[in-house]
Amino acid sequence: MSLLRTARLQSRAKLSYSARSATIVPRRFSSKNADKQTTIGVQPEYGPLGVNAAVKWSPKDPAPKPTLFPHELSVTDRVALISGANRGIGLEMALALVEAGARAVYCVDLPKTPGEEWEKTRLYAEKMQGKAGEGRLEYLHGNVTDQEAMWKIGETIGSREGRLDVGVAAAGVLKDHTDCLKYPAKQFQDVFNVNVNGVLFTAQAAGQQMEKFGNGGSLILIASMSGSITNKDHAWVSYNSSKSAVLQMARSMACELGPKRIRVNTISPGHIYTSMTAAYSDKQPHLLAKWSSLNPLGRIGRPDELRGVVTWLASDASTFCTGSDIIVDGGHRAW
Ligand SMILES: NC(=O)c1ccc[n+]([C@@H]2O[C@H](COP(=O)([O-])OP(=O)(O)OC[C@H]3O[C@@H](n4cnc5c(N)ncnc54)[C@H](O)[C@@H]3O)[C@@H](O)[C@H]2O)c1
Repeated sequence: MSLLRTARLQSRAKLSYSARSATIVPRRFSSKNADKQTTIGVQPEYGPLGVNAAVKWSPKDPAPKPTLFPHELSVTDRVALISGANRGIGLEMALALVEAGARAVYCVDLPKTPGEEWEKTRLYAEKMQGKAGEGRLEYLHGNVTDQEAMWKIGETIGSREGRLDVGVAAAGVLKDHTDCLKYPAKQFQDVFNVNVNGVLFTAQAAGQQMEKFGNGGSLILIASMSGSITNKDHAWVSYNSSKSAVLQMARSMACELGPKRIRVNTISPGHIYTSMTAAYSDKQPHLLAKWSSLNPLGRIGRPDELRGVVTWLASDASTFCTGSDIIVDGGHRAW
């Protein structure tokens, strides 16, 4: 086969991913558009955006409509899988994606049946949409440390919905203070099993379906500021090391999956008030004041303060963001 023909076939293959709402993919290779398509990406099917749209618009055309919230920042009709979403940060993110237009968000967690907080959130989401069956929160029992079970969960969602666009790995555990010089092997492995292996298996479960459907997608791994810094006075060597592993996992996966238009990023929250932190601060109330004093905002965060960032990463508003760590820590790391 001639070199020219091989190059042409490769170019066609690059452009052959099926279109979804984010992207127009030309069906036929054209040398005129080749440079633009491969070097600056393609315009979304809902038309040109921003200044490009303004320049193309003429006063004779109908009045322009904003695109930022209805299109770029929306996840209309997309499907998500979120681990650890029976409560806490995972559940908060699940509701955010439903509000942003997701067709279904599958929450995966350990209990056989979801808790009261989850049930109330499911009902709230259903009523908010006005019609049952739109913007669904679904619950699936699953243990992120079981690779086979997680892959099956991905397949179940894919075959039910015909797509899977967003995967959020939020399941995580934090153990009590333990001296690093005597840290028991079993406890260290238990933390890594959930916080590292479980994050990989969750990303695989969603990523395999993204690859299968060819629509691209967004994998969002919940790391922590503790992956880059050490929390002062806390003996959390397993947790902190596991979160560093998540940061590197995302960069590594982002580089492998970029050509499939599957983006992989981490969110690194600072101290957020959830059951995980309450397990400490409720027993030692002075910790809340201490943690609050460690950032310029003088307080710890609320789970709802992660709604915007997860929606942004899940949506087309972040299509050029991959391999990045988004820090949401009230400025903790600025000091
Ligand atoms: N709360 C914080 O201050 C904070 C800060 C930085 C990062 N994070 C990270 O955010 C994520 C969510 O934490 P959170 O604060 O909402 O904690 P949380 O304890 O409220 O929620 C964690 C959820 O993960 C689930 N889970 C644990 N092991 C699991 C397993 N093997 N399989 C499936 N599900 C499992 C739990 O049942 C729970 O519902 C974690 O990865 C955590 O490390 C939290």
